[in-house]
Amino acid sequence: MPRGSFAPAYLKDRLMHSAALIAVSLMMGTGLAGAADLSAFMLTPKPGRAPRINGPGAYGARPGRPFVYRIPCTGARPIRFSAKGLPATLHLDGNTGILSGKTPDKAGEYKLELRAANQQGKAVRQFKLVVGDTLALTPPMGWNDWYTHYDHVTDKLVRQAADAMIASGMADYGYQYVNIDDCWMVKPGSDNPELQGEARDADGAIRPNRRFPDMAALTAYIHARGLKAGVYTGPGPRTCAEFTGSYRHEEIDARTFAKWGFDFLKYDWCSYTEVAGGKTLADYKRPYELMGGILPKLERDIVFNLCQYGMGDVWNWGGEVGGHSWRTTGDLGLEKDTRLPGFYSIGFKNAAHPEAARPGRWNDPDYILIGSVGNAFNIQAAPSPTVLVPDEQYSYMSMWALMASPLIFSGDMNYLDEFTLNVLCNSEVIEVDQDLLGKQARIVRHTESEFVLAKAMEDGSLAVGVFNTGDKPARIQVTWDELGLDGQRRVHDVWRQKDIGHASDLLSVEVNRHGVTMVRLFPN
Ligand code: GAL
Repeated sequence: MPRGSFAPAYLKDRLMHSAALIAVSLMMGTGLAGAADLSAFMLTPKPGRAPRINGPGAYGARPGRPFVYRIPCTGARPIRFSAKGLPATLHLDGNTGILSGKTPDKAGEYKLELRAANQQGKAVRQFKLVVGDTLALTPPMGWNDWYTHYDHVTDKLVRQAADAMIASGMADYGYQYVNIDDCWMVKPGSDNPELQGEARDADGAIRPNRRFPDMAALTAYIHARGLKAGVYTGPGPRTCAEFTGSYRHEEIDARTFAKWGFDFLKYDWCSYTEVAGGKTLADYKRPYELMGGILPKLERDIVFNLCQYGMGDVWNWGGEVGGHSWRTTGDLGLEKDTRLPGFYSIGFKNAAHPEAARPGRWNDPDYILIGSVGNAFNIQAAPSPTVLVPDEQYSYMSMWALMASPLIFSGDMNYLDEFTLNVLCNSEVIEVDQDLLGKQARIVRHTESEFVLAKAMEDGSLAVGVFNTGDKPARIQVTWDELGLDGQRRVHDVWRQKDIGHASDLLSVEVNRHGVTMVRLFPN
Protein backbone atom coordinates (compact mmCIF):
# COMPACT_ATOMS: atom_id res chain seq x y z
CA MET A 1 0.00 0.00 0.00
CA PRO A 2 1.42 3.44 -0.86
CA ARG A 3 2.84 5.44 2.01
CA GLY A 4 0.30 7.79 3.49
CA SER A 5 -2.83 6.04 2.32
CA PHE A 6 -4.70 3.03 3.58
CA ALA A 7 -7.60 0.89 2.55
CA PRO A 8 -9.63 -0.42 5.49
CA ALA A 9 -10.40 -4.13 5.34
CA TYR A 10 -14.15 -3.57 5.49
CA LEU A 11 -14.04 -1.96 2.05
CA LYS A 12 -13.99 -5.31 0.35
CA ASP A 13 -17.60 -5.75 1.43
CA ARG A 14 -18.53 -2.44 -0.07
CA LEU A 15 -20.08 -3.64 -3.29
CA MET A 16 -22.25 -6.19 -1.57
CA HIS A 17 -23.13 -3.55 0.98
CA SER A 18 -24.22 -1.04 -1.69
CA ALA A 19 -26.37 -3.61 -3.45
CA ALA A 20 -28.08 -4.54 -0.20
CA LEU A 21 -28.53 -0.90 0.62
CA ILE A 22 -30.39 -0.25 -2.60
CA ALA A 23 -32.68 -3.12 -1.68
CA VAL A 24 -33.33 -1.56 1.71
CA SER A 25 -34.02 1.88 0.31
CA LEU A 26 -36.47 0.41 -2.15
CA MET A 27 -38.22 -1.37 0.68
CA MET A 28 -38.31 1.85 2.63
CA GLY A 29 -39.81 3.58 -0.38
CA THR A 30 -42.60 1.04 -0.40
CA GLY A 31 -43.24 1.46 3.31
CA LEU A 32 -41.80 -1.92 4.25
CA ALA A 33 -38.98 -0.46 6.30
CA GLY A 34 -40.33 -1.86 9.54
CA ALA A 35 -39.65 -5.31 8.18
CA ALA A 36 -36.15 -4.53 6.95
CA ASP A 37 -33.31 -6.15 8.81
CA LEU A 38 -30.67 -3.45 9.02
CA SER A 39 -28.25 -5.43 11.15
CA ALA A 40 -25.90 -5.84 8.18
CA PHE A 41 -25.35 -2.07 8.16
CA MET A 42 -24.65 -1.54 11.83
CA LEU A 43 -21.33 0.14 12.42
CA THR A 44 -21.28 0.54 16.17
CA PRO A 45 -19.89 -2.52 17.95
CA LYS A 46 -21.88 -3.86 20.89
CA PRO A 47 -20.64 -2.44 24.20
CA GLY A 48 -18.68 -4.81 26.43
CA ARG A 49 -20.09 -6.43 29.56
CA ALA A 50 -17.51 -4.71 31.76
CA PRO A 51 -18.45 -1.16 32.83
CA ARG A 52 -17.47 1.81 30.70
CA ILE A 53 -18.24 5.27 32.03
CA ASN A 54 -19.41 7.60 29.27
CA GLY A 55 -20.48 11.20 29.25
CA PRO A 56 -18.41 14.37 29.50
CA GLY A 57 -15.36 14.79 31.73
CA ALA A 58 -16.73 18.01 33.21
CA TYR A 59 -20.08 19.43 34.18
CA GLY A 60 -20.95 23.07 34.86
CA ALA A 61 -23.41 24.22 37.51
CA ARG A 62 -24.11 27.32 39.59
CA PRO A 63 -23.43 27.35 43.36
CA GLY A 64 -26.03 26.08 45.80
CA ARG A 65 -28.51 24.79 43.20
CA PRO A 66 -30.38 21.48 43.04
CA PHE A 67 -28.32 18.89 41.22
CA VAL A 68 -29.06 15.58 39.55
CA TYR A 69 -26.78 13.57 37.28
CA ARG A 70 -27.00 9.91 36.40
CA ILE A 71 -23.52 8.57 35.64
CA PRO A 72 -23.78 7.32 32.06
CA CYS A 73 -22.29 3.83 32.07
CA THR A 74 -22.59 0.80 29.83
CA GLY A 75 -21.95 -2.76 30.98
CA ALA A 76 -23.89 -5.65 32.45
CA ARG A 77 -26.09 -4.69 35.40
CA PRO A 78 -25.91 -4.83 38.34
CA ILE A 79 -23.15 -2.25 38.46
CA ARG A 80 -21.95 -0.83 41.75
CA PHE A 81 -21.05 2.88 41.65
CA SER A 82 -18.81 4.85 43.98
CA ALA A 83 -17.06 8.21 43.88
CA LYS A 84 -14.01 9.79 45.45
CA GLY A 85 -13.91 13.50 46.19
CA LEU A 86 -17.69 13.88 46.37
CA PRO A 87 -18.63 17.27 47.92
CA ALA A 88 -20.60 16.86 51.18
CA THR A 89 -23.66 18.46 49.56
CA LEU A 90 -24.00 15.59 47.07
CA HIS A 91 -25.11 12.00 47.48
CA LEU A 92 -24.37 9.07 45.18
CA ASP A 93 -26.78 6.15 44.98
CA GLY A 94 -24.42 3.18 44.58
CA ASN A 95 -27.01 1.05 42.79
CA THR A 96 -28.30 3.49 40.21
CA GLY A 97 -25.27 5.76 39.80
CA ILE A 98 -27.47 8.81 40.36
CA LEU A 99 -25.73 11.79 41.94
CA SER A 100 -28.15 14.16 43.61
CA GLY A 101 -28.39 16.93 46.18
CA LYS A 102 -27.16 20.48 45.85
CA THR A 103 -24.04 21.93 44.32
CA PRO A 104 -21.56 23.39 46.85
CA ASP A 105 -22.14 27.02 47.86
CA LYS A 106 -18.59 27.89 46.99
CA ALA A 107 -17.59 28.32 43.37
CA GLY A 108 -14.63 26.30 42.18
CA GLU A 109 -13.60 23.06 40.50
CA TYR A 110 -14.47 19.91 42.38
CA LYS A 111 -12.49 16.95 41.13
CA LEU A 112 -14.32 13.66 41.44
CA GLU A 113 -13.25 10.17 40.58
CA LEU A 114 -16.22 8.13 39.42
CA ARG A 115 -16.02 4.37 39.71
CA ALA A 116 -18.18 1.59 38.39
CA ALA A 117 -17.69 -2.14 39.02
CA ASN A 118 -19.46 -5.35 38.11
CA GLN A 119 -18.47 -9.03 37.92
CA GLN A 120 -16.76 -8.47 34.57
CA GLY A 121 -14.52 -5.59 35.59
CA LYS A 122 -14.33 -1.98 36.67
CA ALA A 123 -14.05 1.49 35.23
CA VAL A 124 -12.64 4.70 36.66
CA ARG A 125 -13.33 8.15 35.27
CA GLN A 126 -12.17 11.62 36.26
CA PHE A 127 -15.05 14.06 36.42
CA LYS A 128 -14.85 17.76 37.21
CA LEU A 129 -17.82 19.52 38.71
CA VAL A 130 -17.22 23.13 37.74
CA VAL A 131 -19.24 25.31 40.06
CA GLY A 132 -19.43 28.81 38.67
CA ASP A 133 -21.64 30.63 36.21
CA THR A 134 -21.30 28.49 33.07
CA LEU A 135 -23.84 25.78 32.32
CA ALA A 136 -23.71 23.33 29.41
CA LEU A 137 -19.92 22.96 29.34
CA THR A 138 -20.64 20.32 26.70
CA PRO A 139 -23.58 20.24 24.27
CA PRO A 140 -26.87 19.12 25.87
CA MET A 141 -28.00 15.59 25.00
CA GLY A 142 -31.51 14.23 25.24
CA TRP A 143 -34.88 14.01 23.59
CA ASN A 144 -37.53 16.53 22.53
CA ASP A 145 -41.08 15.48 21.70
CA TRP A 146 -41.83 17.92 18.87
CA TYR A 147 -41.25 15.83 15.76
CA THR A 148 -43.16 12.88 17.21
CA HIS A 149 -46.01 14.20 19.34
CA TYR A 150 -46.57 17.76 18.05
CA ASP A 151 -49.86 19.18 19.39
CA HIS A 152 -50.92 15.93 21.02
CA VAL A 153 -48.14 15.62 23.61
CA THR A 154 -49.24 14.39 27.05
CA ASP A 155 -47.79 13.84 30.51
CA LYS A 156 -47.99 10.10 29.89
CA LEU A 157 -45.96 10.25 26.67
CA VAL A 158 -43.27 12.32 28.38
CA ARG A 159 -43.05 9.82 31.26
CA GLN A 160 -42.82 6.98 28.77
CA ALA A 161 -39.97 8.81 27.05
CA ALA A 162 -38.09 9.10 30.35
CA ASP A 163 -38.58 5.39 30.99
CA ALA A 164 -37.45 4.54 27.48
CA MET A 165 -34.34 6.69 27.83
CA ILE A 166 -33.27 4.39 30.67
CA ALA A 167 -34.61 1.08 29.29
CA SER A 168 -33.15 1.56 25.81
CA GLY A 169 -29.70 2.30 27.24
CA MET A 170 -29.63 5.84 25.77
CA ALA A 171 -29.01 7.29 29.24
CA ASP A 172 -25.94 5.04 29.54
CA TYR A 173 -24.39 7.09 26.74
CA GLY A 174 -25.21 10.50 28.20
CA TYR A 175 -28.70 11.31 26.91
CA GLN A 176 -30.37 13.03 29.84
CA TYR A 177 -32.79 15.84 28.92
CA VAL A 178 -36.42 14.88 28.46
CA ASN A 179 -37.81 18.00 26.85
CA ILE A 180 -41.40 19.01 26.29
CA ASP A 181 -41.86 21.26 23.27
CA ASP A 182 -44.84 23.41 22.36
CA CYS A 183 -48.48 22.59 23.22
CA TRP A 184 -48.43 21.83 26.95
CA MET A 185 -50.28 25.06 27.74
CA VAL A 186 -53.84 26.20 27.18
CA LYS A 187 -54.75 27.06 23.59
CA PRO A 188 -56.98 30.16 23.53
CA GLY A 189 -59.96 29.66 21.23
CA SER A 190 -59.42 25.93 20.85
CA ASP A 191 -62.47 23.75 20.28
CA ASN A 192 -60.72 20.82 21.97
CA PRO A 193 -61.89 20.62 25.63
CA GLU A 194 -58.49 19.25 26.71
CA LEU A 195 -56.84 22.46 25.58
CA GLN A 196 -59.45 24.90 26.86
CA GLY A 197 -59.54 26.80 30.14
CA GLU A 198 -57.95 29.74 31.87
CA ALA A 199 -54.46 30.24 30.48
CA ARG A 200 -53.25 31.71 33.79
CA ASP A 201 -54.32 31.56 37.42
CA ALA A 202 -55.44 34.53 39.56
CA ASP A 203 -51.79 35.48 40.22
CA GLY A 204 -50.94 35.39 36.54
CA ALA A 205 -49.05 32.09 36.73
CA ILE A 206 -49.18 29.96 33.59
CA ARG A 207 -51.35 26.84 33.72
CA PRO A 208 -50.70 23.64 31.82
CA ASN A 209 -53.57 22.18 29.79
CA ARG A 210 -55.52 19.10 30.94
CA ARG A 211 -53.05 16.73 29.35
CA PHE A 212 -50.52 17.80 32.00
CA PRO A 213 -52.26 17.40 35.34
CA ASP A 214 -49.22 18.03 37.55
CA MET A 215 -46.01 19.49 36.14
CA ALA A 216 -44.08 19.23 39.43
CA ALA A 217 -44.97 15.53 39.68
CA LEU A 218 -43.83 15.06 36.09
CA THR A 219 -40.39 16.60 36.65
CA ALA A 220 -40.06 14.62 39.91
CA TYR A 221 -40.71 11.45 37.91
CA ILE A 222 -37.97 12.43 35.45
CA HIS A 223 -35.52 13.46 38.18
CA ALA A 224 -36.09 10.21 40.09
CA ARG A 225 -34.53 8.46 37.10
CA GLY A 226 -31.51 10.77 37.25
CA LEU A 227 -32.68 12.62 34.13
CA LYS A 228 -33.51 16.26 33.54
CA ALA A 229 -36.67 17.96 32.35
CA GLY A 230 -37.10 20.62 29.69
CA VAL A 231 -39.95 22.97 28.89
CA TYR A 232 -40.88 25.36 26.09
CA THR A 233 -42.40 28.79 25.73
CA GLY A 234 -41.86 31.92 23.68
CA PRO A 235 -41.58 35.68 24.21
CA GLY A 236 -44.64 36.39 22.07
CA PRO A 237 -48.31 36.37 23.12
CA ARG A 238 -48.71 32.95 21.45
CA THR A 239 -46.39 30.08 20.60
CA CYS A 240 -45.88 28.82 17.06
CA ALA A 241 -48.75 26.36 17.50
CA GLU A 242 -50.96 29.19 18.85
CA PHE A 243 -50.79 28.17 22.52
CA THR A 244 -50.27 30.68 25.36
CA GLY A 245 -46.90 32.45 25.28
CA SER A 246 -44.93 34.37 27.90
CA TYR A 247 -45.34 37.92 26.59
CA ARG A 248 -45.47 40.32 29.58
CA HIS A 249 -45.22 37.31 31.93
CA GLU A 250 -41.56 36.47 31.45
CA GLU A 251 -40.53 36.71 35.09
CA ILE A 252 -43.46 34.80 36.55
CA ASP A 253 -43.17 32.11 33.88
CA ALA A 254 -39.47 31.59 34.54
CA ARG A 255 -40.18 31.34 38.26
CA THR A 256 -42.97 28.88 37.63
CA PHE A 257 -40.72 26.68 35.49
CA ALA A 258 -38.07 26.67 38.24
CA LYS A 259 -40.70 25.91 40.87
CA TRP A 260 -42.04 23.03 38.81
CA GLY A 261 -38.47 21.68 38.54
CA PHE A 262 -37.50 22.29 34.92
CA ASP A 263 -33.84 22.28 33.95
CA PHE A 264 -34.00 23.47 30.35
CA LEU A 265 -35.97 26.15 28.51
CA LYS A 266 -36.49 26.47 24.77
CA TYR A 267 -37.58 30.03 24.02
CA ASP A 268 -39.23 30.25 20.62
CA TRP A 269 -39.73 33.60 18.83
CA CYS A 270 -42.97 32.90 16.86
CA SER A 271 -45.61 35.57 17.45
CA TYR A 272 -43.07 37.94 19.00
CA THR A 273 -42.89 39.49 15.52
CA GLU A 274 -46.24 41.15 16.28
CA VAL A 275 -44.84 42.96 19.31
CA ALA A 276 -41.15 43.32 18.45
CA GLY A 277 -41.62 46.78 17.02
CA GLY A 278 -39.10 46.33 14.23
CA LYS A 279 -36.42 44.19 12.68
CA THR A 280 -33.25 45.76 14.03
CA LEU A 281 -30.62 43.84 15.92
CA ALA A 282 -31.91 45.39 19.13
CA ASP A 283 -35.40 44.08 18.35
CA TYR A 284 -34.05 40.56 17.80
CA LYS A 285 -32.03 40.62 21.00
CA ARG A 286 -34.58 42.22 23.34
CA PRO A 287 -36.73 39.23 24.32
CA TYR A 288 -33.71 36.98 24.77
CA GLU A 289 -31.85 39.55 26.86
CA LEU A 290 -34.90 39.81 29.07
CA MET A 291 -35.26 36.06 29.68
CA GLY A 292 -31.48 35.57 29.70
CA GLY A 293 -31.28 38.06 32.57
CA ILE A 294 -33.99 36.35 34.61
CA LEU A 295 -32.85 32.72 34.42
CA PRO A 296 -29.47 32.94 36.22
CA LYS A 297 -31.17 34.54 39.23
CA LEU A 298 -33.49 31.59 39.77
CA GLU A 299 -32.91 29.03 42.47
CA ARG A 300 -32.49 26.36 39.84
CA ASP A 301 -30.10 25.93 36.91
CA ILE A 302 -31.98 26.26 33.64
CA VAL A 303 -30.15 25.75 30.37
CA PHE A 304 -31.35 28.41 27.92
CA ASN A 305 -31.99 27.41 24.28
CA LEU A 306 -32.77 30.25 21.87
CA CYS A 307 -35.06 29.39 19.01
CA GLN A 308 -35.42 32.20 16.49
CA TYR A 309 -34.10 30.45 13.37
CA GLY A 310 -30.83 32.42 13.10
CA MET A 311 -32.29 35.93 12.74
CA GLY A 312 -29.83 38.79 13.17
CA ASP A 313 -26.95 36.30 13.01
CA VAL A 314 -27.81 35.01 16.47
CA TRP A 315 -24.54 33.05 16.67
CA ASN A 316 -22.76 36.40 17.14
CA TRP A 317 -24.72 37.37 20.25
CA GLY A 318 -26.66 34.34 21.54
CA GLY A 319 -24.04 33.73 24.22
CA GLU A 320 -23.92 37.38 25.31
CA VAL A 321 -27.62 37.40 26.13
CA GLY A 322 -27.32 34.30 28.28
CA GLY A 323 -28.08 31.59 25.71
CA HIS A 324 -26.36 28.22 25.99
CA SER A 325 -27.43 27.22 22.49
CA TRP A 326 -29.27 28.82 19.64
CA ARG A 327 -30.94 27.46 16.57
CA THR A 328 -29.01 28.64 13.53
CA THR A 329 -31.70 27.77 10.96
CA GLY A 330 -35.38 27.10 10.34
CA ASP A 331 -36.98 23.77 11.22
CA LEU A 332 -35.09 20.76 9.91
CA GLY A 333 -38.32 18.85 9.43
CA LEU A 334 -39.59 21.50 7.04
CA GLU A 335 -36.44 21.59 4.94
CA LYS A 336 -36.99 20.69 1.32
CA ASP A 337 -34.11 19.70 -0.84
CA THR A 338 -34.32 18.20 -4.26
CA ARG A 339 -31.15 16.15 -4.30
CA LEU A 340 -30.05 15.60 -0.70
CA PRO A 341 -32.17 15.01 2.42
CA GLY A 342 -32.88 18.13 4.49
CA PHE A 343 -30.35 17.49 7.26
CA TYR A 344 -27.54 18.20 4.83
CA SER A 345 -28.60 21.76 3.97
CA ILE A 346 -29.31 22.52 7.64
CA GLY A 347 -25.94 20.99 8.55
CA PHE A 348 -24.12 23.01 5.88
CA LYS A 349 -25.64 26.25 7.18
CA ASN A 350 -24.83 25.41 10.78
CA ALA A 351 -21.28 24.37 9.87
CA ALA A 352 -20.53 27.91 8.70
CA HIS A 353 -20.18 29.30 12.25
CA PRO A 354 -17.54 27.26 14.05
CA GLU A 355 -16.09 30.32 15.76
CA ALA A 356 -19.30 30.83 17.76
CA ALA A 357 -19.11 27.51 19.60
CA ARG A 358 -17.32 27.03 22.90
CA PRO A 359 -18.10 25.52 26.31
CA GLY A 360 -21.46 26.91 27.38
CA ARG A 361 -22.29 28.26 23.89
CA TRP A 362 -23.43 26.00 21.08
CA ASN A 363 -24.85 26.33 17.60
CA ASP A 364 -28.05 24.30 17.39
CA PRO A 365 -28.97 22.79 14.00
CA ASP A 366 -32.21 21.26 15.35
CA TYR A 367 -32.98 17.69 16.29
CA ILE A 368 -31.96 14.25 15.11
CA LEU A 369 -34.86 12.93 13.07
CA ILE A 370 -34.35 9.21 12.65
CA GLY A 371 -36.12 6.09 13.88
CA SER A 372 -39.89 6.34 13.84
CA VAL A 373 -40.59 10.01 13.37
CA GLY A 374 -43.53 12.26 12.52
CA ASN A 375 -44.02 14.57 9.58
CA ALA A 376 -43.69 18.31 10.20
CA PHE A 377 -45.76 18.99 7.06
CA ASN A 378 -48.66 16.99 8.50
CA ILE A 379 -48.46 16.95 12.26
CA GLN A 380 -51.56 14.78 12.65
CA ALA A 381 -49.97 11.88 10.74
CA ALA A 382 -48.71 8.96 12.83
CA PRO A 383 -44.92 8.65 13.03
CA SER A 384 -43.38 6.33 10.47
CA PRO A 385 -39.88 4.93 9.86
CA THR A 386 -37.38 7.45 8.56
CA VAL A 387 -36.80 7.45 4.82
CA LEU A 388 -33.08 8.08 5.38
CA VAL A 389 -30.95 5.14 4.33
CA PRO A 390 -28.40 3.81 6.84
CA ASP A 391 -25.48 5.72 5.30
CA GLU A 392 -27.43 8.97 5.55
CA GLN A 393 -28.24 8.32 9.19
CA TYR A 394 -24.59 7.75 10.06
CA SER A 395 -23.72 10.93 8.13
CA TYR A 396 -26.36 12.89 10.07
CA MET A 397 -25.07 11.77 13.45
CA SER A 398 -21.43 12.28 12.44
CA MET A 399 -22.09 15.80 11.19
CA TRP A 400 -23.90 16.74 14.40
CA ALA A 401 -21.13 15.29 16.60
CA LEU A 402 -18.37 17.02 14.64
CA MET A 403 -20.26 20.32 14.88
CA ALA A 404 -20.48 19.95 18.68
CA SER A 405 -24.24 20.26 18.31
CA PRO A 406 -26.74 19.49 21.01
CA LEU A 407 -27.63 15.84 20.44
CA ILE A 408 -31.38 15.90 20.82
CA PHE A 409 -33.24 12.97 19.34
CA SER A 410 -36.83 13.72 18.34
CA GLY A 411 -38.10 10.37 17.06
CA ASP A 412 -40.57 8.17 18.91
CA MET A 413 -39.09 6.84 22.16
CA ASN A 414 -41.67 4.04 22.16
CA TYR A 415 -40.38 2.66 18.87
CA LEU A 416 -36.62 2.62 19.27
CA ASP A 417 -35.27 -0.14 17.05
CA GLU A 418 -31.81 -1.61 17.21
CA PHE A 419 -30.57 0.23 14.15
CA THR A 420 -31.65 3.64 15.43
CA LEU A 421 -29.92 2.96 18.73
CA ASN A 422 -26.84 1.86 16.83
CA VAL A 423 -26.71 5.32 15.23
CA LEU A 424 -27.56 7.27 18.40
CA CYS A 425 -25.40 5.32 20.83
CA ASN A 426 -21.81 5.09 19.76
CA SER A 427 -19.66 6.12 22.72
CA GLU A 428 -16.76 7.27 20.53
CA VAL A 429 -18.92 9.40 18.25
CA ILE A 430 -20.53 10.97 21.30
CA GLU A 431 -17.08 11.57 22.79
CA VAL A 432 -16.27 13.72 19.75
CA ASP A 433 -19.40 15.79 20.36
CA GLN A 434 -18.80 16.08 24.12
CA ASP A 435 -15.10 16.91 23.98
CA LEU A 436 -14.14 19.45 26.63
CA LEU A 437 -12.23 21.73 24.28
CA GLY A 438 -15.65 22.64 22.93
CA LYS A 439 -14.57 23.29 19.35
CA GLN A 440 -16.98 23.02 16.46
CA ALA A 441 -15.43 21.41 13.37
CA ARG A 442 -14.24 23.72 10.66
CA ILE A 443 -15.16 23.12 7.02
CA VAL A 444 -12.12 21.70 5.24
CA ARG A 445 -13.81 21.16 1.89
CA HIS A 446 -17.27 21.68 0.47
CA THR A 447 -17.98 20.78 -3.14
CA GLU A 448 -21.03 19.37 -4.90
CA SER A 449 -20.03 15.82 -4.04
CA GLU A 450 -17.69 16.09 -1.03
CA PHE A 451 -17.90 17.63 2.41
CA VAL A 452 -15.07 17.39 4.91
CA LEU A 453 -15.14 18.55 8.53
CA ALA A 454 -12.27 18.59 11.03
CA LYS A 455 -12.63 19.07 14.78
CA ALA A 456 -9.70 19.68 17.11
CA MET A 457 -9.94 17.55 20.25
CA GLU A 458 -8.67 18.23 23.76
CA ASP A 459 -6.13 15.39 23.64
CA GLY A 460 -4.42 16.77 20.52
CA SER A 461 -6.11 14.38 18.11
CA LEU A 462 -8.16 15.58 15.16
CA ALA A 463 -11.61 14.19 14.42
CA VAL A 464 -12.34 14.19 10.70
CA GLY A 465 -15.55 13.44 8.84
CA VAL A 466 -15.35 12.68 5.14
CA PHE A 467 -18.85 12.86 3.66
CA ASN A 468 -19.75 11.66 0.20
CA THR A 469 -22.63 13.85 -0.95
CA GLY A 470 -22.40 12.62 -4.54
CA ASP A 471 -24.65 10.06 -6.15
CA LYS A 472 -22.25 7.14 -6.25
CA PRO A 473 -19.58 5.59 -4.07
CA ALA A 474 -16.29 7.46 -4.32
CA ARG A 475 -12.70 7.47 -3.16
CA ILE A 476 -12.03 10.73 -1.36
CA GLN A 477 -8.61 12.01 -0.40
CA VAL A 478 -7.84 14.69 2.17
CA THR A 479 -4.28 15.92 2.50
CA TRP A 480 -2.40 16.82 5.65
CA ASP A 481 -1.98 20.28 4.13
CA GLU A 482 -5.72 20.78 4.15
CA LEU A 483 -5.97 19.40 7.67
CA GLY A 484 -3.01 21.43 8.95
CA LEU A 485 -1.16 18.29 9.98
CA ASP A 486 2.42 17.21 9.77
CA GLY A 487 3.94 13.75 10.23
CA GLN A 488 2.59 10.30 10.88
CA ARG A 489 -0.83 9.78 12.39
CA ARG A 490 -2.58 6.71 13.74
CA VAL A 491 -5.93 6.44 11.97
CA HIS A 492 -8.82 5.33 14.15
CA ASP A 493 -12.24 4.56 12.69
CA VAL A 494 -14.63 6.22 15.13
CA TRP A 495 -17.82 4.37 14.15
CA ARG A 496 -16.21 0.94 14.13
CA GLN A 497 -14.10 1.87 17.17
CA LYS A 498 -10.86 0.45 15.85
CA ASP A 499 -7.50 1.50 14.47
CA ILE A 500 -7.28 1.03 10.73
CA GLY A 501 -3.69 1.94 9.96
CA HIS A 502 -1.23 4.81 9.85
CA ALA A 503 -0.97 7.68 7.41
CA SER A 504 1.70 10.30 6.85
CA ASP A 505 0.44 12.82 4.34
CA LEU A 506 -3.10 12.05 3.35
CA LEU A 507 -6.26 10.26 4.25
CA SER A 508 -7.70 8.24 1.40
CA VAL A 509 -11.03 6.56 1.95
CA GLU A 510 -13.79 4.89 -0.05
CA VAL A 511 -17.10 6.36 1.01
CA ASN A 512 -20.56 5.05 0.15
CA ARG A 513 -23.08 7.25 -1.59
CA HIS A 514 -24.36 9.69 1.08
CA GLY A 515 -22.14 7.92 3.58
CA VAL A 516 -19.34 9.03 5.84
CA THR A 517 -15.99 7.89 7.07
CA MET A 518 -15.32 9.39 10.46
CA VAL A 519 -11.83 9.01 11.87
CA ARG A 520 -9.70 10.35 14.64
CA LEU A 521 -6.09 11.05 13.77
CA PHE A 522 -3.81 10.54 16.75
CA PRO A 523 -0.22 11.77 16.98
CA ASN A 524 0.87 8.25 17.93
C1 GAL B 1 -41.05 26.14 15.73
C2 GAL B 1 -39.75 25.59 16.23
C3 GAL B 1 -39.89 24.09 16.37
C4 GAL B 1 -41.04 23.79 17.31
C5 GAL B 1 -42.31 24.49 16.86
C6 GAL B 1 -43.40 24.36 17.90
O1 GAL B 1 -40.92 27.53 15.62
O2 GAL B 1 -38.70 25.92 15.37
O3 GAL B 1 -38.70 23.52 16.82
O4 GAL B 1 -40.67 24.17 18.60
O5 GAL B 1 -42.10 25.86 16.64
O6 GAL B 1 -44.58 24.98 17.52
